[in-house]
Amino acid sequence: MMNNIHKQNISINRTDRNALKGHHSVVVWFTGLSGSGKSTLANEVDKTLFSKGIHSYVLDGDNIRHGLNNDLGFSETDRSENIRRTAEVSKLMANAGIVTLVSFITPLRSDRKLAKAIIGEQDFIEVFIDTPIEVCEERDIKGLYAKARKGEIPNFTGISAPYEAPEHPDLIIKTADKTIASSADDICDYILKRINIQ
Ligand code: ADX
Repeated sequence: MMNNIHKQNISINRTDRNALKGHHSVVVWFTGLSGSGKSTLANEVDKTLFSKGIHSYVLDGDNIRHGLNNDLGFSETDRSENIRRTAEVSKLMANAGIVTLVSFITPLRSDRKLAKAIIGEQDFIEVFIDTPIEVCEERDIKGLYAKARKGEIPNFTGISAPYEAPEHPDLIIKTADKTIASSADDICDYILKRINIQ
């Protein structure tokens, strides 16, 4: 299939784009249960980075599943493909100089490993939004846990499908004990160091 396809050279490289922006670009991968606070925190982090003149962008599972990945469901195979495509897109975005904030449940270690391999270890920051399922279920912002408990949503993460907590994430954020602002600050501080802005 790939036989007649050759890589095309592009003159402006990532270092040039990073120099233009004045910061490095990384992929910050938020993993955690539905309702753990991934999207809320990615959005807060995005706002703070924006206010500092840093070019960032949020890729959110729910949003991407409305477009690029609207052919995918929640089987293990579909989730893997969901993550693979998103990792490829976020790699392109990081190459384009953008600090890319990815907010996907990404329940399986094997899929997070794949994402890291696609993106490259040095550019991949894994942030575990470590909110206990009891808290997520209590919040139940989208009403999905109630539906899942009634058996109305198959393969629901944490109920009828697994969530494998990361073993060595770069950051662990325990949202149950903290305010949104303080969790977002911790993530921002870490990112700013990694992209060479103090
Ligand atoms: S992932 O597992 O493939 O990484 P992703 O982050 O894209 O998941 O999508 C999760 C979102 O889809 C949840 O926030 C929720 O709104 C919705 N959703 C619908 N069905 C499910 C399901 N079976 N399990 C988890 N989330 C679901």
